[in-house]
Amino acid sequence: MPRKIIIDTDPGQDDAVAILLALASPELEVISLTAVAGNVPLPLTQWNARQIVELSGKSTPVYAGCDAPLKRKLVTAEHVHGKTGLDGIPLPAPSHPLQSQHAVDHIIDTLRAHPPGTITLCPLGPLTNIATAFQRAPDIIPRVAEIVLMGGGCFEGGNITPAAEFNIYVDPEAADIIFRSGVPLVVMPLDVTHKALTSRAWIEAMRALGTPVGQAVASWTDFFERFDTAKYGSEGAPLHDPCVIAYLINPALFTGRHINVEIETASPLTLGMTVADWWRVTDREPNAMFMGGVDRDGFYRLLTERLGRL
Ligand code: RIB
Ligand code: CA
Repeated sequence: MPRKIIIDTDPGQDDAVAILLALASPELEVISLTAVAGNVPLPLTQWNARQIVELSGKSTPVYAGCDAPLKRKLVTAEHVHGKTGLDGIPLPAPSHPLQSQHAVDHIIDTLRAHPPGTITLCPLGPLTNIATAFQRAPDIIPRVAEIVLMGGGCFEGGNITPAAEFNIYVDPEAADIIFRSGVPLVVMPLDVTHKALTSRAWIEAMRALGTPVGQAVASWTDFFERFDTAKYGSEGAPLHDPCVIAYLINPALFTGRHINVEIETASPLTLGMTVADWWRVTDREPNAMFMGGVDRDGFYRLLTERLGRL
């Protein structure tokens, strides 16, 4: 029985690879994509999400959600993803429609319509949509099976500030709501995504698929990695968001610890920091499976095999 998921996303080249991986994998039933403002503004993230679905050949519905964080001005990341958010390869304007219902209402209705414990939420961007749904309809919180998200960092620090990772930094109040919600959390922080580095060989293997998906993934990764290789001096760039989907397909690829993680929402210096009690030096209740390791070869083997199916 495939696992039912909603992917909440701010495409983003790495979101795009994650979405394609999910759509190619029979273990998962992607009920919908819900777009949120993040890497680029909402009009672009919803447009990009529709383009990605079209590229996959599927008909997964796409909903637009929140265009700004709960309490703060939106911070975007065109410097990483380009002005469209999906720079690297020109794609045709999507004919795949945008659903008229707001993504937050869709999330609420979907969780109410399915038996408790049957829907997994997979946020790949700022947590605004899910936090808004939880605030508006607290009854859905115990109905969520699990939230598997990309965000945060511990030993790796931050990527948008020295202390904070982008998804958490953009909407720290939303992240705080999610991390305090009591919903079982699996967190893919920079500590693990910085080990899921692309390689020249893998990008060429994508191009060698000879398919529109292979070409797009190779071009997006070429574009996406230019920023990170310059910044980190590493060969290859971290493919952050696909770690969330790979975990759902094969959790054995990852290692981590069930620990307490809380979100800084007050200090300007460390705003959006995930304060992860990795060494359990407090008596704060563990609330998240916080990942630290990944089998990089196994991860890329899975990606190559699955993307080759589209
Ligand atoms: O910090 C990396 C995260 O921020 C990824 O999800 C990327 O797509 C951006 O949303
Ligand atoms: Ca993202």
